[in-house]
Order: sequence, then structure tokens, then C-alpha cells
Amino acid sequence: MIVKQHLIFILYSLCADVFKVAGTKSKAKGSQGQFPITQNVTVVEGAIANMTCRVDYNDNTSLQWSNPAQQTLFFGDKKALRDHRIELVRASWQELTIRISDVGLSDEGQYTCSLFTMPVKTTKAFLTVLGVPGRPEITGFTKPAMEGDVITLTCTTSGSKPAANIRWFRNDKEVQGTTKVNATGKSFTVRSSLQFQVDRRDDGVAYTCSVEHVSLSNPYMTTEVLEVHYAPHLEITHSLIIPQEGQYLKLECVSKGNPIPEPVLWSKDGGELPDIERMIVEGRELTITTLNKTDNGTYRCEASNHLGTSSAEYILFVYDPNALGQHGPDHALIGGVVAVVVFITLCLIIVLGRYLARHKGTYLTHEAKGAEDAPDADTAIINAEGNHVHAEEKKEYFI
Ligand SMILES: *[C@@H]1O[C@H](CO)[C@@H](O)[C@H](O)[C@H]1NC(C)=O
Ligand SMILES: *[C@@H]1O[C@H](CO)[C@@H](O)[C@H](O)[C@H]1NC(C)=O
Ligand SMILES: *[C@@H]1O[C@H](CO)[C@@H](O)[C@H](O)[C@H]1NC(C)=O
Ligand SMILES: *[C@@H]1O[C@H](CO)[C@@H](O)[C@H](O)[C@H]1NC(C)=O
Ligand SMILES: *[C@@H]1O[C@H](CO)[C@@H](O)[C@H](O)[C@H]1NC(C)=O
Ligand SMILES: *[C@@H]1O[C@H](CO)[C@@H](O)[C@H](O)[C@H]1NC(C)=O
Repeated sequence: MIVKQHLIFILYSLCADVFKVAGTKSKAKGSQGQFPITQNVTVVEGAIANMTCRVDYNDNTSLQWSNPAQQTLFFGDKKALRDHRIELVRASWQELTIRISDVGLSDEGQYTCSLFTMPVKTTKAFLTVLGVPGRPEITGFTKPAMEGDVITLTCTTSGSKPAANIRWFRNDKEVQGTTKVNATGKSFTVRSSLQFQVDRRDDGVAYTCSVEHVSLSNPYMTTEVLEVHYAPHLEITHSLIIPQEGQYLKLECVSKGNPIPEPVLWSKDGGELPDIERMIVEGRELTITTLNKTDNGTYRCEASNHLGTSSAEYILFVYDPNALGQHGPDHALIGGVVAVVVFITLCLIIVLGRYLARHKGTYLTHEAKGAEDAPDADTAIINAEGNHVHAEEKKEYFI
């Protein structure tokens, strides 16, 4: 019971003290303003932290700085703790400034400035120490990677406080990674992973890991350029669309693959090139200097790398320039046929016209008597009895 009462008393006096301090603070501002003023400080690990404590109106009362462990650092201009990193900057009745060089993460915490009035007045200043992230490292890739492999790129940066932010870029385009943060002591280790299946489009692609942090004005970046190996893919390009005898033809075996497929082998109809004199192979090119009908056939180029072999084919058909010229007569023939058809049609129309005309004439002559022995319809009408006007009218049928 006695112990309990004692505790209550202590608590009461502590509360009273706090109350009094708070009370004098607000009162002091109005009257003497005799209380210490400090500011929170944020520094980067390894830098210098200046801790300033000010008293606007001071009746020569001593100031003191103490650390988060409540150890006195400076009492006025007198150094209390033996730590060579802590030095005095300025000591006067109005100000006590100290500096802590080569600040470490363990220096972080609440520092106290005390003004030894009665009762003692204190103010807290929080020293925040930023942990600078380490240069990022990318791991998890094999150089070279094989097409189809599933790889996991992991970017790691340690020592940041607060935890750094990691971003991934695939050739400057941001891609989303999976980030994990692990606390190691007072700082953090941040890892971000990117998992994907590599294909030939990843060959030569730059993957960049960027680390952003409050302590860095520019993010730290690390880049890895992927190298992807893949089986060759070939294609033959040709210099002529309609190869003709006597012309110069160049075939190129365009190969894609990593490593670049070498050498390129040319063959014709499954065998060797028949005419070394006219068929010249230079690297991936095959040149036939003077095309000949006998060059017809299937040309094939083949190349391989350690991942496989690929081939491409080109079917050569050498046109005879004269035969090409004779292609004209085909059109002429069609033209001729058309002309004949048109001619026949015209003849038919004329013949039909004549026939119809005759038929009508005969019919008319029946109207007029005495026309039977006329040699043609005209004379028949003229010979016919009846007035001329009528005959004229009827004559119009002949036209
Ligand atoms: C600390 O004070 C010194 C001068 O005493 C100054 O050069 C330095 O920039 C200050 N550091 C910070 C972090 O304000
Ligand atoms: C403060 O100290 C100075 C000497 O350092 C003295 O001249 C002055 O009278 C003192 N003031 C008070 C209010 O004690
Ligand atoms: C100083 O820092 C402490 C702890 O981070 C915070 O609670 C307080 O509000 C800060 N004071 C000022 C004036 O920023
Ligand atoms: C985080 O730390 C723990 C213990 O140090 C460890 O077992 C775990 O593998 C770590 N996680 C990562 C992602 O590094
Ligand atoms: C094509 O080859 C044959 C036999 O090799 C040869 O007689 C002929 O002159 C060649 N034609 C041309 C246009 O070179
Ligand atoms: C080669 O092409 C010509 C047409 O230019 C054709 O008449 C000939 O039969 C072909 N010869 C071979 C061996 O394929």
C-alpha cells in the first residue's frame, strides 16, 4: 500500500512537472521567452548534422545538448561525451550549436536541448538519418541465354533508409517487377524481380534497374544487355524478277540467327553447283554471271549455328529472251481472232440486211402489179402501176 501511494505520488509530481513546463512555455513566450527552440534535422548517412538550440531572451542560464541515450554531449561550451565526431560550433547565452560529423544510422533519434532554469526547460529535436542505397546489382541472367529459357532478373540494392524504390525498364519502356523489402538492421534491402521467357526479340535488349531514393538527386541505374541465342532463319533474295538467258543474277542468303550462322552452303537440285566458272559464291551471295537455260533448277542455301540448321530455296527458271518476244504473237493472235470475229459479224449484218431488204421489196412488189418480171425491187416499183408519190414513199424502204 505504501509502495503504491509512493508511486502515485511520483507519477503525480511528474505530471505536475510536465504541466508546469508546458505552462511556463506558453507563459514564457509572453514574458521573457526564456525557453529553448530547436528544429528537426534530416541528414544523409555520412554527412554532418548541425544541431542548433536557441534561446531568445536568456538571463545567463546554461544550455545543454544530450543524445537519444540521454548522455550529455555539451554543457555550454564544455564537451561532456568523448566522441571525436561531436564538436562545438557556437556557444553563447543565446545559442548552443554542435555538429555531428560522419553521421551513422545509429545516431538517429531524439536529441534534447535543456535550459537550466528552475525547473529545467527542454525541447526535443529529431535527427533523421537517411540510408543511401547501394548501387543496384542485377543477377539471374545467363550470358548468352537460349531462346525459350525462362529467366528471372533480380535487382538488389541494400542500405537504404527508408526503403528505396526500384523500377525496371526494357529499352526505356517501364515494365513491372515484383518487389520485396527486407529489413537488415536499421536499413533495408530491396529486391525486385522480373521473370520472363526469352525469345529472339530480347537479343540485344537493355534491361535497366533504376533505384530512386530521397537521398539521391538522380536515381542509380544499372543496365544489362541480354544476349539471346537462337537457331538460324534463312531467306533468299534475288536481283531479278524475270531472269533471262545471258543476264547476271545475284542471290543472297539472308540469315538471321545468333550466333550468326556461318558458313552459307549453296547447292543446286541437291548436288554441288555445276558450273564453278559462272557460279561464284562470295560469303552469303551466289552470283551467276551469264544465265543459261541449263541453269534452271532449285537453288538452296543452308547455314547453321550450334542451335540448329536452316535452309531456304529459290527455284530458278531462265526465260528465253526470244521466247519472251514470242509472247507478243499470243496477243496478236487474240487480236486477230477478235478482228476476224468482228469482220464475220459485220458481214453477217450486211447479208442479213440485204436479205431483209429483199424480202420487203418482194412484199411491196406484190402490192404493185406488173412488177414480177422486174430484175430487182427498184425497177419493180418503177414498173408498177399506181402513182409515183406512192412509189417514192415505198422506195424509202430500200434505204
Ligand atoms: C553545418 O554547419 C556548417 C557550418 O558550421 C555548414 O557548413 C554546413 O553546411 C552545415 N550542415 C548542414 C547539414 O546544415
Ligand atoms: C550575463 O553575463 C555577463 C557576462 O558574461 C554579465 O555581464 C551580465 O551581467 C550577465 N547578465 C545577467 C542577467 O546575469
Ligand atoms: C520532429 O520529428 C518528430 C519525430 O519525427 C515529430 O514527431 C515532430 O512533429 C517533428 N517536429 C517538427 C517541428 O517537425
Ligand atoms: C529476408 O531476411 C530473412 C532473414 O534475414 C531471410 O530469411 C529472407 O530470405 C530474406 N528475404 C529476402 C527476400 O531476401
Ligand atoms: C548455254 O549452255 C550451253 C551448253 O552449256 C551452250 O551451248 C550455250 O551456248 C549456252 N547459252 C548461252 C546463252 O550462254
Ligand atoms: C529451262 O527453262 C526453259 C524455259 O526457259 C524450259 O524450256 C526448259 O525445259 C527448262 N529446262 C530444264 C532443264 O528445266
